[in-house]
Amino acid sequence: MVVPTLIERKRDGGALAPAEWRELVLAYAGGSVPDYQMSALLMAIVWRGLSGGELDALAEAMLDSGDRLRWDGLDRPVVDKHSTGGVGDKTSLLLAPMLATCGAAVPMMSGRGLGHTGGTLDKLEAIPGFRTSLTLRETTDQVRRIGCAMIGQTPEIAPADKRLYALRDVTATVESIPLIAASIMSKKLAEGLDGLVLDVKTGSGAFLPGETDALELARTMIGLGQSHGCRTVALLTAMDRPLGRAAGNALEVEEAIAGLSGEGPADLMEVTWALGVEMMLVARLASDALEARQRLEESISSGRAREKFGQLIEAQGGNPAVLDDPAALPQADVIEIFNAPRDGVVRRVEPRRIGRAIIELGGGRQTVDDVVDPAVGFVITARPGDTVRAGEPIASIHARTGDAAAGAAHALAEAIEIGEPLAVTPLISRRITA
Ligand code: URA
Repeated sequence: MVVPTLIERKRDGGALAPAEWRELVLAYAGGSVPDYQMSALLMAIVWRGLSGGELDALAEAMLDSGDRLRWDGLDRPVVDKHSTGGVGDKTSLLLAPMLATCGAAVPMMSGRGLGHTGGTLDKLEAIPGFRTSLTLRETTDQVRRIGCAMIGQTPEIAPADKRLYALRDVTATVESIPLIAASIMSKKLAEGLDGLVLDVKTGSGAFLPGETDALELARTMIGLGQSHGCRTVALLTAMDRPLGRAAGNALEVEEAIAGLSGEGPADLMEVTWALGVEMMLVARLASDALEARQRLEESISSGRAREKFGQLIEAQGGNPAVLDDPAALPQADVIEIFNAPRDGVVRRVEPRRIGRAIIELGGGRQTVDDVVDPAVGFVITARPGDTVRAGEPIASIHARTGDAAAGAAHALAEAIEIGEPLAVTPLISRRITA
């Protein structure tokens, strides 16, 4: 393999053969292709794209660079869901225990906050003691025992993606639909799934805000899933406002527990039900959407999903007292109320601004080494379309200091636009299947 020749071919619009992708990716994962050559190739992919055959070969090679979860003899379907990232999105915390209660095996592998978006691992680690770095063996044992586990990418899963992702992050080569699709799907397929539901976000707070790009990403990932025998479905959901009221790690855990207790906010529950129904269907645990929804609702009303979340927390070393006592979660020192500055209708709650404000409060990372403060964030009760009066409380700010809270109030004033009504986009705009 002569790497400069491969880069040259891609640069000039040609295609690499499956065997060339394989050799290149495995050599890169093994350390024998340097970052500077891989960076040049990645930039050529950003500009030239990949043919269907090349995408399959790249994803396959990334998958084969590591190990897979093995489920021999398991008598339950294995399912997961993946979100392309947003603000206030805590649906994973509800769905893993709900689906486990309904008969699925859920080895949910998630990420940390990226850019302005929150990450499921950071939310879980807000629970005192919770350990997200399980080994593959620990993960499969736990899923066999209680039906679910919530973990980070282990060193054995798609190591080529781990290296490639870190390189893309610093070479401006993240925003490529085939590269995003191969990256996400190589990790998901390594979980040995029977079914996968993709929550592809659209709107100003999404990584790919436009619907056309979101659709293409969804279709690309569905194609990869189907060609690996994993039934894959996608929903396009709105990320032009935060999901639910809470944004910030411990606050989101508290809201997820409220959801598992039957008291979640309507928008969070609408997206959770929709994703859960699709998970039940790809898992073939229900014959239609109505039956799936009834079983999911029953998992909440019976208290079984909430109890399952407690088992999951305990199994991963966390303090299950958080289920009954929100004070067992990290608490902010300063809580300030934010009032509507004028009469009018809430036109926008801008998720990117909210996500960045959480980082400014210390609840996300500015550099990879930053330690996240789990206690800080916002609870925003005003939703787009709500009529508010000047002086009415519409949010609370959870901060470490008064100065930080003042900065966050400024951010809220920018993020929450009040004026004449604006059409509210639907929460779930499309369902995409193979
Ligand atoms: N998440 C991933 O895992 N990979 C990407 O490329 C983008 C988001």
